Amino acid sequence: MRSVIYYYSFSGNTRSVAETIAEFLLSKGDVILRRLKPVDEPGNFFIQALQAKRRACPKLLEESFDVTDYDLIVCGTPVWAFSPAPAVNTLLQKIQGIENKSVILFTTFGSGVGNKRCLEYMKETVSVKKPKEIQLFTIAGKRTKDKDYVFSQFKRLWPNG
Ligand SMILES: Cc1cc2nc3c(=O)[nH]c(=O)nc-3n(C[C@H](O)[C@H](O)[C@H](O)COP(=O)(O)O)c2cc1C
Repeated sequence: MRSVIYYYSFSGNTRSVAETIAEFLLSKGDVILRRLKPVDEPGNFFIQALQAKRRACPKLLEESFDVTDYDLIVCGTPVWAFSPAPAVNTLLQKIQGIENKSVILFTTFGSGVGNKRCLEYMKETVSVKKPKEIQLFTIAGKRTKDKDYVFSQFKRLWPNG
């Protein structure tokens, strides 16, 4: 199985989860980890939240959004103002070749308020592109560095372990 993991991370939580998922998926085949980064990235909380709330789609340094070569596409984001981080909006808009593929969308979050809404929004956005299946996965920010925990939670998505 060939997998690609796209993720955005500002302070490292989502990155930790993406890396743990990559380790898990390595046992199933090839894995590529792609970090999404806006060309122009605000560091201010209020601007970040405002852009996320407006569902902004910034230009990214990453320009490869064609997933035709992969069987599984994983995409992770921190929850920002009940929404994906803007970099992930760009990916979800531009991604190509996702038809009939398996997709896993994941979030990391702080308080958890808006987490469900964020995942549902991501799911709706990707559904339009007709993947075979979409699974959702989430990890609380404070548990993202607990590799064993993340590993065990992710493993649950595999019916046969
Ligand atoms: C601008 C901003 C907005 C946020 N909004 C939410 C939110 O609506 N709900 C929530 O549970 N956590 C929220 N958080 C917390 C992050 O989702 C959480 O800390 C996440 O794990 C950070 O991931 P990262 O370290 O990969 O950037 C917000 C954080 C930031 C910086």
